[in-house]
Amino acid sequence: MTRTLRNALLGAAFGLALAAGPAGAATIKVGVVAPFSGPFGVVGKSFKEAIELYQAEHGKTVGNDTVEFVYKDLDQANPAQSKALSQELIVKERVSVLAGYFFTPDALAVAPLIDEANIPCVIFNAATSAITEKSPRYVRTSFTLWQNTVPLAEYMAKQGIKKAISAVSDYGPGIDGEAAFKATFEKHGGTVVDTIRMPLKSADFAPFMQRIKDSGAEAVYAFLPAGPATLAFAKAFNDTGLRAAGIKFFGPGDLTQEPDLPALGDAALGITTTFNYSRAHDSAMNKAFVAKHKEMFGSYDTVTFTSVGAYDGTHVIYQMIKNAGGRIDGAKAVESVKGMSWESPRGPLTIDPDSRHVTQTIYLRTVEKVDGKLENVEKEAFPKQPDYGYKLAK
Ligand code: PHB
Repeated sequence: MTRTLRNALLGAAFGLALAAGPAGAATIKVGVVAPFSGPFGVVGKSFKEAIELYQAEHGKTVGNDTVEFVYKDLDQANPAQSKALSQELIVKERVSVLAGYFFTPDALAVAPLIDEANIPCVIFNAATSAITEKSPRYVRTSFTLWQNTVPLAEYMAKQGIKKAISAVSDYGPGIDGEAAFKATFEKHGGTVVDTIRMPLKSADFAPFMQRIKDSGAEAVYAFLPAGPATLAFAKAFNDTGLRAAGIKFFGPGDLTQEPDLPALGDAALGITTTFNYSRAHDSAMNKAFVAKHKEMFGSYDTVTFTSVGAYDGTHVIYQMIKNAGGRIDGAKAVESVKGMSWESPRGPLTIDPDSRHVTQTIYLRTVEKVDGKLENVEKEAFPKQPDYGYKLAK
């Protein structure tokens, strides 16, 4: 890092103390980097809505300080741009906390920045296990592929499935999903007959469907980042006749995220996934969460896993600010939330002190029609699932 940047970053952190007024009241800024436009725009929208909802419930002040969120649009996975935007947030906006990050490469790109500037980074989504190993200043409130895949692979083996194939996007979380699936499914007596890695930008899935069909697998485990690719993959599974051929279709719940269910239509019916959150989760807190979205934004159509990632992430940020009693010191702020437990619309959460990732309940769900609307209906719960991939020799 150049001397100028280092000075600017340190100056930025120091400047926060000067922002405090005579009464000790300050504005604490939180920078959020996420897709707000383009094919993944619903992610940024869901983050922002969840933050606004949290602030509507808990207020915009913590002690004497006002918490202000500043948003930067990163429309697709682009680590160089993620780093540039995050640096701008630190140096120009003087944020005390960084947050958001949908794609793994974008979260990874800020590790040197958050360490230099001593700023905590609360990841609302990016789900590759190794991310939190790259800086002690990362805390994550989403899920990891290992966390969702271990219970799914165990369930599939228990269903008597013997031969499966994996098909994943060829980058961090996909590779984690593939490894978690193979290790767990084979430990429970199954065989993974082939492992398909698909380029992140694939749009035509027919050739992969052919490979799945030819493999002789009874079931497929699939991971793609939630959005246009999951939608196209699930549609191709039906359109190319794999469903009709009796091949069973499983994956983490990114495949059936709520905002895509109307477009998937009946093609989604019966898809079984594991995930940390379903909009249809049956709890008083979740019902209130969904109803509050409708009240504030006129609809709850965007409520999905990224909503709770951001809502719980905001809760952690508020707790860091409360614990700091003013100026945030990144390392101390992270230390202060290790072991923190709370109740979320998704269920109980704890920040594991080692991985700084949330231990949580993972649910087995099947897409069904509820009152004419497609929903991920929870069938089984696997409580207290850790990030099985943290510091796993890879
Ligand atoms: C990731 O890049 O870590 C990622 C993106 C979208 C998902 C899950 C993981 O749905």
